[in-house]
Amino acid sequence: MEISLIVATDENNGIGINGDQPAFISADLKRFKAITTGNTIVMGRKTFEALPKGALPNRRNIVISRRPDFSAPECEVISNPEDLKEKVRPDEKVFVIGGGEIYRIFFPLSDKIILTHIHHRFDEIDTWFPEISSEKWAVESKEGPFEDPKNGLHYSYINYRRK
Ligand SMILES: NC(=O)c1ccc[n+]([C@@H]2O[C@H](COP(=O)([O-])OP(=O)(O)OC[C@H]3O[C@@H](n4cnc5c(N)ncnc54)[C@H](OP(=O)(O)O)[C@@H]3O)[C@@H](O)[C@H]2O)c1
Repeated sequence: MEISLIVATDENNGIGINGDQPAFISADLKRFKAITTGNTIVMGRKTFEALPKGALPNRRNIVISRRPDFSAPECEVISNPEDLKEKVRPDEKVFVIGGGEIYRIFFPLSDKIILTHIHHRFDEIDTWFPEISSEKWAVESKEGPFEDPKNGLHYSYINYRRK
């Protein structure tokens, strides 16, 4: 099983404010859809609850929660991150889509990071992505910077592979 983390961070590794993302960049959302469609996505219960329409279509949705009574339409729920290994086939591509707690759990177990780096520092960040050290991660590709026409934010796509 290949595990990739897919995430958008700001200049300080910030990923969340008050249960929401600091910014939405529509080209990035389209890219997220293109990369994850047809594959398996794994998320924490809080990130799932922030999805406006629930499970993301045309993907296998796996939600992690300790709540024994938690269930959600079109989702599989696991109560222990360790159970992922038994759930997925070895040839399945797994994308961990957040949030902070779930990225931290899978960070040491992942092969790739698909990062959207937003060149901005947001105020009031309360959730962060782990630091990507150059000792452990090699930059595989870099695109950008681009500018979002709606909000003027500059962003780059950086793909990392574990060394
Ligand atoms: N910028 C980005 O790319 C991006 C992407 C995704 C999310 N985010 C942001 O990240 C923030 C949410 O992150 P978060 O850290 O607060 O929450 P989260 O990681 O989405 O979910 C946390 C929940 O996962 C479950 N969980 C965590 N560890 C577990 C374990 N070991 N075993 C079983 N269940 C476990 C628990 O659910 P229960 O409480 O149900 O037990 C916990 O409350 C939001 O602000 C969101 O917008 C940003």
